[in-house]
Amino acid sequence: MKIRVKLNTLGKLSIGLLLSLAISTASPWGGEVPIPNPPKAKENVSNSQKCVEPLDVMRRNHGLFLKHYRHDTMRHGIRTIQHSLVNCIECHVTKDTEGNYPSIKEGSEHFCRSCHTYAAVTIDCFQCHASQPEKSSE
Ligand code: HEC
Ligand code: HEC
Ligand code: HEC
Repeated sequence: MKIRVKLNTLGKLSIGLLLSLAISTASPWGGEVPIPNPPKAKENVSNSQKCVEPLDVMRRNHGLFLKHYRHDTMRHGIRTIQHSLVNCIECHVTKDTEGNYPSIKEGSEHFCRSCHTYAAVTIDCFQCHASQPEKSSE
């Protein structure tokens, strides 16, 4: 048992190290966040082909935006569309060639897993929130 605890601690340490290395390395996309190959956003959603914030800001800060927005919604009842998680999913989660939405549980096809798998980020959001668009907008 003691050995297992030590191994776990080491495992976490080395993941942390790898992550900080990956993030501090300049990437071909010009941001600081490692981007393996996120799937393209849906076309013609809300007549806009843009994300809710400039791309470099979004790549770096989406985690914060989502968490801040959650805080605002839960604590103060504020609801705007801009940083809504439902909205991210609506634009970003698209069907594969067989017409199925990718899984949030495995692989790296799902937009929200495309970087997280690579960067060893774990989020619990989709235990409660839908990981696939609710209304069909195609
Ligand atoms: C109106 C549609 C739309 C909404 C809503 C939207 N995005 Fe985006 N997002 C885009 C587009 C378009 C891009 C540019 C890359 C592409 O074409 O897929 C992008 C890029 C990104 C990127 C960078 C991906 C890359 O390839 O570098 C991240 C991260 C991201 N969005 C996260 C989010 C999150 C988190 C939310 C919800 C708070 C959100 N987006 C909401 C359309 C949207
Ligand atoms: C372009 C790559 C990329 C994409 C695409 C992406 N993420 Fe992230 N995400 C990261 C990285 C790297 C981190 C860790 C560094 C940070 O917090 O910015 C992160 C962190 C987060 C965090 C904060 C985790 C924490 O514990 O603080 C949340 C929440 C999050 N992402 C949600 C999402 C959601 C929801 C989507 C899909 C709509 C998504 N991300 C898509 C790269 C990405
Ligand atoms: C235990 C269940 C649960 C978990 C886990 C959870 N949420 Fe939520 N979240 C809720 C509920 C309930 C609401 C309020 C009802 C609603 O707006 O759907 C909410 C609302 C939100 C909202 C505002 C509403 C909207 O349309 O987006 C955001 C943003 C949000 N959550 C983000 C997150 C993120 C990011 C994570 C992971 C870091 C997360 N939530 C994890 C239950 C959860």
